[in-house]
Amino acid sequence: MEHLFKTTDHDQSKNPTSARRCIWVNGPLIVGAGPSGLAVAACLKQQGVPFLVIDRASCIASLWQNRTYDRLKLHLPKQFCQLPNMPFPDHFPEYPTKNQFIDYLESYARKFEINPQFNESVASAKYDETCGLWRVKTCGPARSDVEYICRWLVVATGENAECVVPEIDGLARFDGQVQHACEYKSGDGFKGKRVLVVGCGNSGMEVSLDLCNHGAFPSMVVRSSVHVLPREFNGRSTFALASRMLKWLPLWLVDRILLVMAWIVLGSLEKYGLKRPATGPFELKNKAGKTPVLDIGALAKIKAGEIKVVPGIKELSSNGVELVNGEYLHLDAVILATGYRSNVPSWLHESDFFCKNGFPKTALPNSWKGQSGLYAVGFSRKGLAGASMDAMKIAQDIGEVWRKETRRSCKTTACLRRCISQF
Ligand SMILES: Cc1cc2nc3c(=O)[nH]c(=O)nc-3n(C[C@H](O)[C@H](O)[C@H](O)COP(=O)(O)OP(=O)(O)OC[C@H]3O[C@@H](n4cnc5c(N)ncnc54)[C@H](O)[C@@H]3O)c2cc1C
Ligand SMILES: NC(=O)c1ccc[n+]([C@@H]2O[C@H](COP(=O)([O-])OP(=O)(O)OC[C@H]3O[C@@H](n4cnc5c(N)ncnc54)[C@H](OP(=O)(O)O)[C@@H]3O)[C@@H](O)[C@H]2O)c1
Repeated sequence: MEHLFKTTDHDQSKNPTSARRCIWVNGPLIVGAGPSGLAVAACLKQQGVPFLVIDRASCIASLWQNRTYDRLKLHLPKQFCQLPNMPFPDHFPEYPTKNQFIDYLESYARKFEINPQFNESVASAKYDETCGLWRVKTCGPARSDVEYICRWLVVATGENAECVVPEIDGLARFDGQVQHACEYKSGDGFKGKRVLVVGCGNSGMEVSLDLCNHGAFPSMVVRSSVHVLPREFNGRSTFALASRMLKWLPLWLVDRILLVMAWIVLGSLEKYGLKRPATGPFELKNKAGKTPVLDIGALAKIKAGEIKVVPGIKELSSNGVELVNGEYLHLDAVILATGYRSNVPSWLHESDFFCKNGFPKTALPNSWKGQSGLYAVGFSRKGLAGASMDAMKIAQDIGEVWRKETRRSCKTTACLRRCISQF
């Protein structure tokens, strides 16, 4: 691997020991080696465009490898989760396990010869108007700090890049174990313990279920409302049915039908402390990014009283929690299933394309393309299927420009650029 030129970073005057290498990327720089980044890389490969993928972690799909619990399975059928140009193996079940999904992603990276540069975290990215290029600064433990210069920047850092840890009164005073759902692996070690699970999204529900299965006593905080849908209706995936209906029917009507189906299968949930939002499940997902829960067993435990549903938290103390209804619960542990957020605003210095919440401003289906060679993959709130669609569009868009320009430059001059991109 070679770099075109080496410069001294401006910051060196402040810290003379920190030299920053400057590297020209021939083709797009993809930030993030999760499913989205891999999908773009594979599609670029097919377009004949070289690229470089970098990731702050030491492996591909670090969310799946390092920050998910053991019992996790894809919650949508496999045909909605496969990446472009490589289906899941036939022998995989309809809902692959986390390890099967990781195996699939490893094979995907091997098949398309994607070899990301690991342990490099992007600290800042800025478009340099003067030269019409992106300047992307990274830092990492393994290498000295680097500045990548590139024509195209593909943001693939994910909707779930950072854990959300809310401010809860008294959390610092609590003497028991506190962890975020991203650190939770299984209920091993929680047997007989009273655990407060904060949050009732897919993580909160599944962690509560897992705790129950390991002999713990979970209480799950539901501070507002939640849509719970059966994962399947009459043996068919609810999501697949909804996707089919959306081809013919308006979203509001599909939402109504889903709620009737949910009522038939699950019954009324209000008496268990689970209030439904006024907005339908798909509309809420589109408007606010709030994912409905696909039930995989937690509801039966709630109905049986094995998972206690409790209202919002007033304050934690050293050994328990006071709830907003005045009830006090003694606790041994707290698990924060309080969700995730994008980290794009912390490093991308740009305000036309991305909002303050780290998601593109542009509405679907155009949320993948910004100005000046900036792209976003995996931010359409449509899960892995949405990421695959973004990836194909991005690769095609860059591929067209790449082919035009390489044809032109080959006619006029020999290609002198040396680069570190893969191809
Ligand atoms: C518990 C859990 C279960 C899920 N299950 C499903 C499911 O069944 N189906 C579904 O469709 N979706 C699911 N999701 C949503 C999930 O976000 C997607 O499946 C998928 O991981 C998105 O891929 P991604 O590549 O966009 O983001 P990620 O998988 O999050 O990958 C982003 C990558 O960017 C890297 N990165 C972040 N910031 C930087 C930086 N500053 N510099 C360098 N690298 C950086 C990270 O290390 C990471 O490797 C689940 C999410 C969670 C949390
Ligand atoms: N099997 C699977 O495939 C699977 C499993 C887990 C997760 N996922 C996916 O991963 C993504 C993240 O899911 P998630 O469940 O981790 O997060 P989430 O859907 O964002 O849910 C976060 C939950 O935390 C609650 N919360 C936040 N702050 C709180 C506070 N201070 N007090 C009380 N409650 C608080 C929220 O309540 P409010 O609604 O009131 O804000 C919400 O119930 C989703 O896309 C999800 O589908 C998939």
